Amino acid sequence: MPEPLLVARSSSDRSSERSDEESDALLGSRTSRDEESRSSFWRQLGLFAWALIATVTVIVLAVLYQHQLQKTSSDLGDSDPDQRPSGKRNLIFMVSDGMGPASLSLTRSFRQYESNLPIDDILVLDKHHIGTSRTRSSSSLITDSAAGATAFSCAKKSYNGAISVTPDHAPCGTVLEAAKQAGYMTGLVVTTRITDATPACFASHANMRSYEDLIALHEIGEYPLGRVVDLMIGGGRCHFLPNSTDGSCREDDTDVVQMAKSKGFSYFDDRSGFDALRNGNNVDLPLLGLLAPKDIPYEVDRRQENDKYPSLEEMTRTALRALSKATRHSDKGFFIMIEGSRIDHAGHGNDPVAQVHEVLAYDRAFNAVLEFLEKDSTPGVLVSTSDHETGGLSIARQLHDSYPEYVWYPGVLANASHSSEYLGNSLEAYLNGDGKDASHSERQKYIRKNMLADGMGIHDVADSEVDKLINGGGAYAFADMYSRRAQIGWSTHGHSGVDVNIYASSPKGANPLLGNHENTEVGSFLADYLNLDLEDVTKQLQDTHTHPNASALDHNLYAWMGEPLDDGVVVDRLDTYHGDFKRKKRDENLDDSFLGYRDLEGRDCGCGLKH
Ligand SMILES: *[C@@H]1O[C@H](CO)[C@@H](O)[C@H](O)[C@H]1NC(C)=O
Ligand SMILES: *[C@@H]1O[C@H](CO)[C@@H](O)[C@H](O)[C@H]1NC(C)=O
Ligand SMILES: *[C@@H]1O[C@H](CO)[C@@H](O)[C@H](O)[C@H]1NC(C)=O
Ligand SMILES: [Zn+2]
Ligand SMILES: [Zn+2]
Repeated sequence: MPEPLLVARSSSDRSSERSDEESDALLGSRTSRDEESRSSFWRQLGLFAWALIATVTVIVLAVLYQHQLQKTSSDLGDSDPDQRPSGKRNLIFMVSDGMGPASLSLTRSFRQYESNLPIDDILVLDKHHIGTSRTRSSSSLITDSAAGATAFSCAKKSYNGAISVTPDHAPCGTVLEAAKQAGYMTGLVVTTRITDATPACFASHANMRSYEDLIALHEIGEYPLGRVVDLMIGGGRCHFLPNSTDGSCREDDTDVVQMAKSKGFSYFDDRSGFDALRNGNNVDLPLLGLLAPKDIPYEVDRRQENDKYPSLEEMTRTALRALSKATRHSDKGFFIMIEGSRIDHAGHGNDPVAQVHEVLAYDRAFNAVLEFLEKDSTPGVLVSTSDHETGGLSIARQLHDSYPEYVWYPGVLANASHSSEYLGNSLEAYLNGDGKDASHSERQKYIRKNMLADGMGIHDVADSEVDKLINGGGAYAFADMYSRRAQIGWSTHGHSGVDVNIYASSPKGANPLLGNHENTEVGSFLADYLNLDLEDVTKQLQDTHTHPNASALDHNLYAWMGEPLDDGVVVDRLDTYHGDFKRKKRDENLDDSFLGYRDLEGRDCGCGLKH
């Protein structure tokens, strides 16, 4: 029988055996059942009374506190929305794609361990936590990044896969488009493809997120509103190169880079081009920078290739400086969306090593924005949130049937110097190269030394684990070795439905976001902060429909948003329960062309098919 990803308690009848032990552990003391005497009875009664009083006090305080919080929020927020600066202002929106609350706990403890810091040394993000966001989409209780980003960009719920298109198949005006039209400068900075769902939702409209060739065209201004983005830095170059070129992943022969240049974009595609921007002091806008064919490598790998790829922090500082300089003489500031895109990928791959370094890189970028806001003469606000959680990450893992110890081991992650993605690729290269004609024991020896010891810092490896790697375990087999040893749990290779955190440079500037909110309220906040009229942009977009009397329900109304959806796609209700747990024990139909992770039996887990 295949081992489940998350080893669950396998039978309920053992739970009664465990209950004494469990409740003792919860109480934090073990009472001896043999010496129950009268005095202990009175002592326990006293303890009970004390506990009761303490509990009531805590509840009363909590209620008072909550009340105060709501009061503060309505005093400062609702009744005084013009806490916003009245004149020129900048808005910086950061998205930590796929980062849930557990990512923060994991990373905080990892950092304290690795850098030998005290318990109260926390992340920069931790000091700026102001609220939480509910993430469901119109089509599912678990959102994807496209519906998640549409909630931010249009302040509207839509279906999984929608790129700033509502469930009635109509385009919705975005914060970035409205900002541009209101005279602000605009930017997008990401670590994945600039055509991926999150950035796409701010500067394009597509019926499905997979229409990345189309999205690339919209982003450079080939769509009804013309060019709306002034600065783009990220990956995804392959969608901008014609299919006749090496390194292209476009289906047609359109040279989008050439088109962008002819529209006036300055363009770079490598580290030296980035360095020539001189930290943002030497930038000609509009600017298009595509630093990788697809994703920029994970931070844990990138930092060893610093001569090839800048960090998210460097890209952030450069973009802020460039936009600040470009708006120097304007009475309007800028809007920028900065994404830590690959926290999500680390979650899909269930890789705790990649995860902690992605979150730390995001934390440093967040800090860079705070420093910018402090120094820049134009007032502004930074708001940061996630579109959803990825991986069902848990700071716990039950490895055996017996009741677990309460531990996890950050030292395992601290010993690692590469992501499972990197190791998976290296192993594949070895097995197809030098290792092709090697004997089994030569391969084992090579993998133990170069991958497990040098790459992962793992020395207690069983032969069976090495054999799994040789037999096509792929990146996931490496990730699982990290997770099991660190005792970190994952419940899925996909997204989960937990609420995610909202952060801000100051609770004052982002008052309407204090507390728990629907993700669309984050979008409304962005629009309100810059006084934008999204409806006006929506109307311009919807005026483009190709049919004089067509209703918005006509699926082919906006040809420029790409092929219409199949009728089977759920857009505005929750999918119904199909009893998949019985029918789809094993899904053999996953697309093999996707370079995914494989589970221990070598089956593709489909991780990352839909981010
Ligand atoms: C490249 O794109 C053109 C259309 O733009 C198409 O006719 C051709 O088949 C494509 N070539 C490949 C190899 O996909
Ligand atoms: C980390 O690596 C060292 C050797 O470099 C090893 O002795 C130690 O056990 C490793 N720690 C963990 C937690 O794997
Ligand atoms: C549009 O609607 C008007 C009135 O409802 C009708 O007279 C006209 O024929 C329609 N045109 C098309 C192209 O359907
Ligand atoms: Zn996402
Ligand atoms: Zn994802």
